[in-house]
Amino acid sequence: MNQIPVAVLGATGSVGQRFMSLLDNHPWFKVVALAASDRSVGQKYSSAARWVLNEPMPEYARDMVVVPATTEAVPAKIVFSALHNDIAKDLEPQFAQAGMAVCSNASSYRRAEDVPLLLPEVNAEHIQLVKIQRQQRGWSGCILTNPNCTSTGLTVALKALDDAFGVKKVFAVSMQALSGAGYPGVPSLDIMDNVIPNIKGEEEKVEWEPRKMLGKWKDGSVETADIQFSVHTNRVAVTDGHTVCASVGFANPADPESAEAVLRAYAAPASARDLPSSPRPAIEVRSEADRPQPRLDRLTGKGMTTVVGRVRSDPIFDIKFVVLSHNTIRGAAGGSIYNAELLVQEGLL
Ligand SMILES: NC(=O)c1ccc[n+]([C@@H]2O[C@H](COP(=O)([O-])OP(=O)(O)OC[C@H]3O[C@@H](n4cnc5c(N)ncnc54)[C@H](OP(=O)(O)O)[C@@H]3O)[C@@H](O)[C@H]2O)c1
Repeated sequence: MNQIPVAVLGATGSVGQRFMSLLDNHPWFKVVALAASDRSVGQKYSSAARWVLNEPMPEYARDMVVVPATTEAVPAKIVFSALHNDIAKDLEPQFAQAGMAVCSNASSYRRAEDVPLLLPEVNAEHIQLVKIQRQQRGWSGCILTNPNCTSTGLTVALKALDDAFGVKKVFAVSMQALSGAGYPGVPSLDIMDNVIPNIKGEEEKVEWEPRKMLGKWKDGSVETADIQFSVHTNRVAVTDGHTVCASVGFANPADPESAEAVLRAYAAPASARDLPSSPRPAIEVRSEADRPQPRLDRLTGKGMTTVVGRVRSDPIFDIKFVVLSHNTIRGAAGGSIYNAELLVQEGLL
């Protein structure tokens, strides 16, 4: 296969760096441009980006010169967006209109009825919304979004349970890593020895996004799932990996053993199972009493696998469990790349 030219918008940031790393030697995609703000434009990537990942900056990226985030400066077919919401809102449609497929981490278009909010191992069929989007907006390109990094792991686990028992209500409390706030993010004096019980706008996203992703694809649109959510979101002093403690009530009550068996057996839809970034496995269930833990488990399946543990009875709901997902890999850059792979495989690029 000839490699498809791709670009990264916001390439110097926390998620942008993950894109640069995950796209190193990607079998289908070749990075031809990277864009950031005026602060970085004209500089070599190695000077513009303050590299924060554990692995070294990829060699291919070091001497690339950062360009402005304009359609003229970015000669790509797929554009990975790691822009902040306010900037993404204006810029992403320009790229879609210019014929590029925008795979976005921003929340600006997640709620749009004609924009897929996609986790391929959960709702691969929603990618068909791209056809409606193109008809309605007259674009030859498109916008695909991946969910908030806390919605991600929770939704994968809920999908397995929903298919088997029908999820009716969810109470969840997150413990979210610092990299989720970008770089430099939360000041050290605020977070050391501390928990911050508020992440602006996050609870509303985690209470709504799973309902769109778990919604049924019917007659060319997504019917939002009828599930009640109550979510608390917290920032904790962990570098990477969002942990969520969830209690779930079902339409058809199930015991923890059945729920655990369903989680263990869960497989992505066939179209999303064998892509280069497919999580292998989709869900890993840990049986130890004190797992998952972010430091030990966040890189399961190269950071793409959702890790679940402590599946047990809940005295108010039916069951409760802990779910962990790598926020900048599965919850951001890796998720966008997986979405782009599905788009290509479905012949929708
Ligand atoms: N971090 C996560 O775990 C996570 C997970 C899911 C989704 N997201 C979403 O992903 C997006 C990026 O988050 P982040 O944490 O990576 O942010 P970040 O570390 O603050 O990076 C922001 C990036 O945007 C660039 N930028 C700023 N203004 C720009 C402009 N006017 N034109 C072009 N580029 C511009 C910055 O370039 P300079 O370096 O030149 O300023 C930088 O590359 C956000 O929408 C966020 O909500 C993040």
